[in-house]
Amino acid sequence: MATPVDSAEPPTLSSLQHRHLLDLSTYSADEIQLILATAREFRSVLDRRIRRVPTLQGVTVANMFFEPSTRTKLSFGLASGRLSAETVSFSKSGSSVKKGETLKDTAQNIEAMKVDMVVIRHSSPGAPHFLSRCTNSVIINAGDGAHAHPTQALLDILTMSEHFDAFEGLNVSIVGDITHSRVARSNINGLTALGANVTLCGPKTMMPVGIEAMGVRVTHRLDEALEGCDVAMALRIQLERQDEGLFPSLREYHTRFGITRDHLTRHPDLLIMHPGPVNRGVELESEVVDHERAIILSQVTNGVAVRMAVLYLLAPGSRTEHAGRTG
Ligand code: CP
Repeated sequence: MATPVDSAEPPTLSSLQHRHLLDLSTYSADEIQLILATAREFRSVLDRRIRRVPTLQGVTVANMFFEPSTRTKLSFGLASGRLSAETVSFSKSGSSVKKGETLKDTAQNIEAMKVDMVVIRHSSPGAPHFLSRCTNSVIINAGDGAHAHPTQALLDILTMSEHFDAFEGLNVSIVGDITHSRVARSNINGLTALGANVTLCGPKTMMPVGIEAMGVRVTHRLDEALEGCDVAMALRIQLERQDEGLFPSLREYHTRFGITRDHLTRHPDLLIMHPGPVNRGVELESEVVDHERAIILSQVTNGVAVRMAVLYLLAPGSRTEHAGRTG
């Protein structure tokens, strides 16, 4: 049976079964559908003249970013502001982490200032899980190493749902450095839970051995990945990895795995996504980034709505109404 993604049907659940958002792998399809349905409601708030609702008045959110970020950091800040929550922002540079303070001490000190929810981005996989064990705050993973980036996958899935009636049978190809991509892993979790077919494409040096066990198809040929594909999601090539010998040159990477205008001509219904930041001329030909079938800026707009939904559904007030949640 098709999984409805944009229907008027109300979601099956009225609350999340989890206390935190650490990883989509533990979230059920029904929970993902609840987040999407809630995000669609908040998406309409973003189109109003006054883009603010009083929903999270009295809630304090700490944005802790130990790694650079533009989209995720700003959209979490905007999302909590649009919900009337109070926000404090922390970034590694200029903090006492520079003086040697540990992650646990930093988080516990921020929590002692009466913070309710912590949004964390960290280079170490598992950092959000660690905080969920050593603090009482609600923890939201904003990207941990190469492990997971659940709100990115949710905003990607919401954006796809605006273009297709169902995920069952939807063909999504993720192209690039799969090994180092938290975006790929979270999208695989979310998309396969909803019934989409996921194909991974990239150089052998950037493809984890045995990744097929996650329920995906693997190819090393872009033409094969794009055949019958509805959505191609290109991943950022981490330029700092050039020295690791994972690919001979950026030019060769673009020749073999870069999506070009020619691909858009040959696949007239294909939509292009990218989590950003884009390396123009590497993952995507520059004209492709600006093409009408590239829905990259819709992804960014939907990021605010998805983060509003996640903050709203996990906020302490709703938690007490639904005791018995798991981590
Ligand atoms: N997509 C994404 O996570 O972008 P930022 O690193 O700018 O937050």
